[in-house]
Amino acid sequence: MKQALEQIQKSADELIAAAQSVAQVEELRVRFLGKKGELTAILKQMGKLSPEERPVVGALANEVREAITQDITARTKELQEAQLQQRLLEETMDVTLPGERPVQGKRHPFEKVLRELKEIFLGMGFDVVSGPEVELDHYNFEMLNMPKSHPARDTQDTFYITENVLLRTQTSPMQIRTMEKTKPPIRIICPGRVYRSDAVDATHSPIFHQIEGLVVDENVTFSDLKGTLEMFIKKLYGEGTRVRFRPHHFPYTEPSAEMDMSCFKCGGKGCSLCKGEGWIEILGCGMVHPKVLENCGIDPEKYSGFAFGVGLERIVMMRYGIDDMRLLYENDLRFLKQF
Ligand code: DAH
Repeated sequence: MKQALEQIQKSADELIAAAQSVAQVEELRVRFLGKKGELTAILKQMGKLSPEERPVVGALANEVREAITQDITARTKELQEAQLQQRLLEETMDVTLPGERPVQGKRHPFEKVLRELKEIFLGMGFDVVSGPEVELDHYNFEMLNMPKSHPARDTQDTFYITENVLLRTQTSPMQIRTMEKTKPPIRIICPGRVYRSDAVDATHSPIFHQIEGLVVDENVTFSDLKGTLEMFIKKLYGEGTRVRFRPHHFPYTEPSAEMDMSCFKCGGKGCSLCKGEGWIEILGCGMVHPKVLENCGIDPEKYSGFAFGVGLERIVMMRYGIDDMRLLYENDLRFLKQF
């Protein structure tokens, strides 16, 4: 038994010295000192020894355990240190290398102008609402005083899902949806995507964006319309901007008008941008037609309102002097980075 213990000590010494990793040393610890290890196996046979031999062998066994434990601790430490040195060598880095700048994104010009526009109207007490792009003919046309046979539909041909379901051609249906749900006072704007079956060119796209506005209350007059829209344009394009209203026709407003603003490029003298006019058409508007109010269960004798519709593309193009609408959709970073 003594010999067996000495043998264990010897082979443990050799194997531990030869171990090349912390994991290998751990394996050896289990092999020699573990519950099912070689040393334990010997100790289990102590019962067979004579009472005189037992303390001697017991003492020796303890010595062996002590020695192996020390070997293991020392070798583990050695290996860990070697590992660290190796890592320090391998992972040296050149701190003088220039860093990599993360690419920082920017808001699309649409989003920038839309945010400004929302701020302006929020400041005037408007709410911002949104509505469905897949719309019923009923809301897109019928309720806005454009029955099936109405010639004004010709200018707003769109994509039909079924005969009565279509991609909205304007944000105006949100006037109806709002008035059906909410009773006056109403003050909303509704930005959103609209669709028309137009071919793509520098000023047309089958998908574009509008912002609808609607105010309904007691005693709302055309002066309120003028004041609100003039304020809006001045906030967006500067105090010096002038506006003018020209009579127009929309089936859902009476009277109706188109609003022009003085050309922001030449200040009204006439240039290539405004085609010598000095004015740029910017939106359609008018007093909500009594029939439309009635359609929504609002008494036109008691309430009146005004509405307007602005093309976002137009506003953005004016704002940044962009002459081709397609640039706004192409997502070419060389273009977008300028804003
Ligand atoms: N919906 C019209 C269009 O798409 C724009 C418009 C004009 C909206 C007059 C209005 C309005 O609310 O009163 O051309």
